[in-house]
Amino acid sequence: MTSHIRDVPDYPKPGVVFKDITPLLAEPAAFGAMTAEFVRIATELGATKVVGLEARGFILAAPVAVDGGFGFVPVRKAGKLPGEVFAVSYQLEYGEAVLEIHRDSFQPGDRVLIVDDVLATGGTAAAALQAIRECGAETVGLAVLLELTFLDGRARLSAEAPAMPVHALLAV
Ligand code: PRP
Ligand code: MG
Repeated sequence: MTSHIRDVPDYPKPGVVFKDITPLLAEPAAFGAMTAEFVRIATELGATKVVGLEARGFILAAPVAVDGGFGFVPVRKAGKLPGEVFAVSYQLEYGEAVLEIHRDSFQPGDRVLIVDDVLATGGTAAAALQAIRECGAETVGLAVLLELTFLDGRARLSAEAPAMPVHALLAV
């Protein structure tokens, strides 16, 4: 899978090397292998729902939900969900952003796996965790394609949920 992730230097700004997953998405064998691995993780954790994080997390999480037989729940950026929401703000490099989830996304006993493309600072995943918690559901794990270990997102997440398993298929 590593060979299908493209480094794009100086994007979105000078000095940053962007990890572009679009070549992987364009290759059915690689996309399928990634999805199968996420399904295996979700099954092992006893998940009942898969939460995808807008936007790139949607692309990865949706086939996991379908292939594994899990419900799909979107966590969206502010103002996109029509129903009653819980909103959680989180820190970006400059300023703040807000993630939202429908309040009625889960049933009692649901076990949630969060799926996203990249774990960087952990701010996005931590906000999703808080939103799921506000709904009263249990998050049993986070699974990402790629972890940027030098940004130490795991530390950010362990402050939020010390015992939660974090699975990264790839790490740099
Ligand atoms: C990107 C990426 C992760 C997040 C990781 O999302 O897809 O969701 O950043 O960063 P963090 O661990 O520091 O929070 P972003 O909202 O930038 O873009 P997207 O809408 O394309 O997913
Ligand atoms: Mg994202």
